[in-house]
Amino acid sequence: MSGAPRVLITGAARRIGRVIAIELSRRGFDVAIHYNTSTAEAEKTSRECGGAPIFQADLARVDEIRRLFREVGERFGPLNCLVNNAARFTRFNALDISEADWDFIHNVNLKATFFCCQEGARQMKAQGAGRIVNISSLGGIRPWAEHVHYCASKAGVIMLTRALAKALAPEITVNSVAPGVISFNDVDASTQLMIDATPVRRAGKPEEVAQAVYFFLTAPDFITGQIMAVDGGLSQR
Ligand SMILES: NC(=O)c1ccc[n+]([C@@H]2O[C@H](COP(=O)([O-])OP(=O)(O)OC[C@H]3O[C@@H](n4cnc5c(N)ncnc54)[C@H](OP(=O)(O)O)[C@@H]3O)[C@@H](O)[C@H]2O)c1
Repeated sequence: MSGAPRVLITGAARRIGRVIAIELSRRGFDVAIHYNTSTAEAEKTSRECGGAPIFQADLARVDEIRRLFREVGERFGPLNCLVNNAARFTRFNALDISEADWDFIHNVNLKATFFCCQEGARQMKAQGAGRIVNISSLGGIRPWAEHVHYCASKAGVIMLTRALAKALAPEITVNSVAPGVISFNDVDASTQLMIDATPVRRAGKPEEVAQAVYFFLTAPDFITGQIMAVDGGLSQR
């Protein structure tokens, strides 16, 4: 690969996605920032990444995903790397989850992650190499009673990662980072219980997720289909 590797991060205007974008930019990647509704925050993240280009799309629609990757290819250049970070999170009693609630989560967390992988992989295959990192969740590894639909979507992201690692080899690696509790000063009572149960005894920082993403994006191609929990050991309990 000549020049800085080009990476698109979805949902990169705010929170974990923003920190991943800043970290990758700082470490020499050419960063493209995707956002949906957070325009002002995306512009700020762009400035923090040295004027990185920003791209708007609603990933709940596959036609929007296709348009996004077409625009990225034309305006930014074909991707070497992709970080699928955008997601939704809701809390419901399992008996109250409606079909709309289920689709709201799965359309973005699982379906969009697959179609972003497909579009990104097409650009990477054309260049003979690529790296994909899907952000899953501890909730895809451990069951959370009030987030059955979310847990199922993130477990789907984990199996999607493993199956795509086989399907896209040998040119493209596909790995996943599974965050545990990552706090932004928004700790409620149930999150505090998880922090109390975490062997490392604290919430995680977005920078720690970003470091795991960087690892997979720069790791040898012999490392593929792997899930790295960044959770202070909570998945081991
Ligand atoms: N925070 C945690 O403790 C934690 C724990 C485990 C796993 N995770 C995972 O880590 C990742 C980042 O977490 P986070 O808390 O930073 O996420 P977040 O703030 O809930 O969401 C990240 C971004 O996803 C984008 N997004 C949502 N729906 C979209 C849609 N229809 N189309 C396009 N973009 C959409 C939003 O973009 P706009 O704002 O531009 O609309 C949002 O800023 C997610 O995959 C999450 O599941 C987080």
